[in-house]
Amino acid sequence: MAPSKDYWQGKIALITGGSSGIGFAIAQSLAAQGTSVWVLARGVEGLKSALESVNCRENQHCGMISADVTDWDQVSAAVAQVETEVGVPDLVINSAGVAHPGYFQDLEIEIFHWMTEVNYYGTVYVCKAVLPGMVARGSGQIVNISSGAAFIGRFGYSAYAPTKYALQGFSDVLRAELKPLGIDVSIVFPPDTDTPQLKYEKELQPPETKALSGIANLISPNWDGRATLFTPAQVADMILPKIEQRKYMILPGFEMKMLYWLSRLVGSGIYPILDWLIARAQRNLQRGD
Ligand SMILES: NC(=O)c1ccc[n+]([C@@H]2O[C@H](COP(=O)([O-])OP(=O)(O)OC[C@H]3O[C@@H](n4cnc5c(N)ncnc54)[C@H](OP(=O)(O)O)[C@@H]3O)[C@@H](O)[C@H]2O)c1
Repeated sequence: MAPSKDYWQGKIALITGGSSGIGFAIAQSLAAQGTSVWVLARGVEGLKSALESVNCRENQHCGMISADVTDWDQVSAAVAQVETEVGVPDLVINSAGVAHPGYFQDLEIEIFHWMTEVNYYGTVYVCKAVLPGMVARGSGQIVNISSGAAFIGRFGYSAYAPTKYALQGFSDVLRAELKPLGIDVSIVFPPDTDTPQLKYEKELQPPETKALSGIANLISPNWDGRATLFTPAQVADMILPKIEQRKYMILPGFEMKMLYWLSRLVGSGIYPILDWLIARAQRNLQRGD
């Protein structure tokens, strides 16, 4: 389902991580519907090429801001700049994120700080900075991008998964507090999506993670262990209509819905299943299968 022009035309969107991957695809799709899109990331070259590709028309007031979401001063200055130049954003997408998998005992402590600062505090800072304007206006939408790693602790993701669990707790509270103020919050759990982040992750994943992903893929419509890898544009197309409907939990694709409901229905029964799957994966790896 495509996002609708009637809804998005004339709106202002601020998208962190808008220079790449899922954030960029959302920026591109919104710009095509007539939204004034502002992309935020650190790298200026990536931002320039993203802004050029989103191809805004003259009556759209699009822009880019180089800022680090882990720095509160940079985030508040960035939001102030958007508000001065175009107005209070109607939509904020928190897509800036990083993932660095590995065995817990091999990951340096700095990796844990890095993941937490970008994925969790980066989102908190942006929400905090946009809120006064949204509250004064009495409307707005905030969308936080989480991950399926927040459903069950994913093997190899001890630094990343907790930051996405934290986003769920944060978004749950924000949803309840902001709804009476006219502001809607959504949380998105994207499936595996072909982006630079996923390529980086795949180079670092322990073999057990890869083996478990193969098993998880057995519940995919392929039924054969082949991963369904979505393009960022497909994911943006699945997310935007749900944001339009102001849905809170957004689970794009069949696997994410299955994983979510499976993890909820099985409850703590998931842990012996996980242990069995990990032991099986390790036996297969030892045998060289
Ligand atoms: N790809 C997947 O399969 C997948 C699955 C589930 C969830 N997710 C989540 O979806 C979101 C987007 O991921 P993606 O795969 O699209 O990633 P991506 O293509 O690597 O893009 C990440 C974006 O975040 C920006 N960024 C990173 N650190 C930043 C910082 N400190 N300050 C400001 N911007 C920063 C990057 O630009 P600069 O480096 O220039 O700053 C880039 O624009 C992330 O939250 C990720 O965890 C992805």
